[in-house]
Amino acid sequence: MDRQALINRFEAELGKVQRPGVDKLLEYIRRSDFYTAPASTKYHLSCEGGLLQHSLNVLDALRGILVRNNDCPPHGGWDYMVAGRTLDNFPDESVTIVALLHDICKTYFYTVGTRNAKNEKTGKWEKVPYYTVQDKMPLGHGAKSAMIIKQYIELTTPEMYAIWWHMGYTDTSDTLSLTNAIEAYPVIWALHTADMMASHMMEAEGGNKDRFLAPDPVPASAGQWADSPTMSDGSEFMEAAAL
Ligand SMILES: [Fe+2]
Ligand SMILES: [Fe+2]
Repeated sequence: MDRQALINRFEAELGKVQRPGVDKLLEYIRRSDFYTAPASTKYHLSCEGGLLQHSLNVLDALRGILVRNNDCPPHGGWDYMVAGRTLDNFPDESVTIVALLHDICKTYFYTVGTRNAKNEKTGKWEKVPYYTVQDKMPLGHGAKSAMIIKQYIELTTPEMYAIWWHMGYTDTSDTLSLTNAIEAYPVIWALHTADMMASHMMEAEGGNKDRFLAPDPVPASAGQWADSPTMSDGSEFMEAAAL
C-alpha cells in the first residue's frame, strides 16, 4: 500500500467538494490519525493506512453501483437504479462526502497493544503488536461520524441519513427507524452496499485483495476527475460488524 499515493488521492477527491468549512475538516483529518489508523482490529484492512484505503474503496464501490448522470444538478451526479428504474439521484459531492467520511468515527478510535505470539520460523514466543479499540470519543458509529463532520461542514439531509445509518441491519439497535429511513433516503442502502462490498469483497487483512490493487494513485474509477485541481493547502458490536 502506497500510503502517500492514497493520501494524495483522498485529498484530491475531497478537494472537489466546494462546501464552506471543508478546509477545516481536512485540517481535522490531517491532525488526527485518519491516515494511519486501521479500518478494523482484525476483520479487514487491520493495518496502518487501512481506514484511508477503506474510505477510498467505498468511494470506488459506490460509484460502481451508481450510474453517471451528467444532468443531475448542480454539476452532474449519479443515479441509483433499481430494476432498471431511477430510484434516486445524488450530486457528485454527496457521493464523495458519504463515502470518504462515513467512517471518520474511527479517528482516535484504535490503539496498538502487544500480545505473545509464536514465531513460525524460529518457534520462539515473542511480543507482537496488534490493534485494539480505545475509543476516545465514545459516541457510537454512524451518528458519531455525522456529528464530527457537522462540526466543520453542513450535510444535506440525504447525506446525514446515509452516514448515520450506513451500518444497515448489522446495527440491530433500531431496525424500525432504519427501515423507515431507507424508504425515505435510498442512498442509505447504496452506501451500506458499497461499504459491504469494500469490507467483504475488496479488502484483506493487510491490504486490498489482488483484484483491487490500484497501480495508479488515481484509478480509472475516478478518471473523470483525475485532472481536477487538488487542495493546495492542502463499541464492540460495531467492530464485530467490521464495516
Ligand atoms: Fe462504518
Ligand atoms: Fe466502512
